[in-house]
Amino acid sequence: MSTQPRLDLLVDIALLSAELAALARISEADPPVVTRIVFSEADLRARGYVKSLCVAAGLSVEEDAIGNTFARWTGSEPDLSPIGTGSHIDAIPNAGSYDGTVGVLGGLEAIRSLQRAGFRPRRAIELIIFTAEEPTRFGIGCLGSRMMGHVLAPAAALALRDKQGNGLEELRIHAGFAGALESVAAPAGRLHQFVELHIEQGPLLEQEGIDLGLVTHIAAPASLRIQIEGEGGHAGGKLMPGRKDALTAAAELILALESAAKSTGAIDTVGTVGVCEVFPGAVNSIPSLVRLETDIRDTDRARRDSVLDALKAACTDVAQRRGVTIKTELVNADPPTRCDVAILAALEASGVEAGRTYKRMVARAYHDSSFVACIAPVAMLFIPCRGGVSHRPDEYASPQWIASGVDVLARTLARLAG
Ligand code: GLV
Ligand code: MN
Ligand code: MN
Repeated sequence: MSTQPRLDLLVDIALLSAELAALARISEADPPVVTRIVFSEADLRARGYVKSLCVAAGLSVEEDAIGNTFARWTGSEPDLSPIGTGSHIDAIPNAGSYDGTVGVLGGLEAIRSLQRAGFRPRRAIELIIFTAEEPTRFGIGCLGSRMMGHVLAPAAALALRDKQGNGLEELRIHAGFAGALESVAAPAGRLHQFVELHIEQGPLLEQEGIDLGLVTHIAAPASLRIQIEGEGGHAGGKLMPGRKDALTAAAELILALESAAKSTGAIDTVGTVGVCEVFPGAVNSIPSLVRLETDIRDTDRARRDSVLDALKAACTDVAQRRGVTIKTELVNADPPTRCDVAILAALEASGVEAGRTYKRMVARAYHDSSFVACIAPVAMLFIPCRGGVSHRPDEYASPQWIASGVDVLARTLARLAG
């Protein structure tokens, strides 16, 4: 890390706020709801919009075979590997305007503010827009960064399908991303360091009146898919004794997960069933088939795995007691991520230089940084979000919070890029 002369930075928060609002309008749902599922028409339009802003800022734009997008500000020493920043622009159904997008458009504004200040980086600075951080379409989060980080092999990616049965291969080609999926995995030295700006998605910074969070660890996510097959039948004619209702079996599993997550006694353990599909889904028909998608996280991998094991044990127990068939599929069980001390030091020095308050904290949501960490040192910078609300249309980060995050990100990029 080199020392920099003090930067006279001007973050154009009016421009950035207008761009965030324009991006939020590119949605599959009516405002203020943002829904942008990967490779949907809205996702492709949003990509086009962000790329046009990058080109206007003089960045050169390239895309890989899965649609990860790299917008590069060339450095004075082109042989040096770049400093990366960025996040995602896909959004879960019924989302808000700031998750991921603050890291992408805020990253772009950080670059533009450095350009305005006359800064010239030694290393290139690369803004990365990762494909499908959200698991909505293919059931697995951080698709693009996971493949870049060698965590998801091309063969496993090719097996992914959405709920309509469309394969990843046909969808990415239809979206305009061809080329061998093998080429997505980043070679050694592809990135020198990576730093991601993101809203906290929790309440602590706002509650404590602190400007910035310096993320030291990112929680370890896991997902178990569960299919319960019981016996359907007439809701009136079939008497209660001897029923094999797949949904009442599922209800036991949902409660078993909640109780296992609570029983660790650790604030960092969380367990959620976010998807419950019931077949045939008629009010007067006993559910014969239920599919659950579960999400279990912790900063401590062993503790997270103990909850996963408790859920699997509950599956065996419920299957036996209720005479239903339960199949499980482990979608992912990722390790926690430890952020890099040198990048954290650069973030801290930049926060001090900018006169901001900050604290070190963990990220309980997962992020593309978790997978970039497999190929380069990473750290994250959090800004507050109102009420800790995220993954909802009323998600909100104030222009002041965003501007302070972008300012400190820009100073950090300047330090790292030298
Ligand atoms: C990412 O959106 C997550 O679910 O943590
Ligand atoms: Mn999200
Ligand atoms: Mn996000």
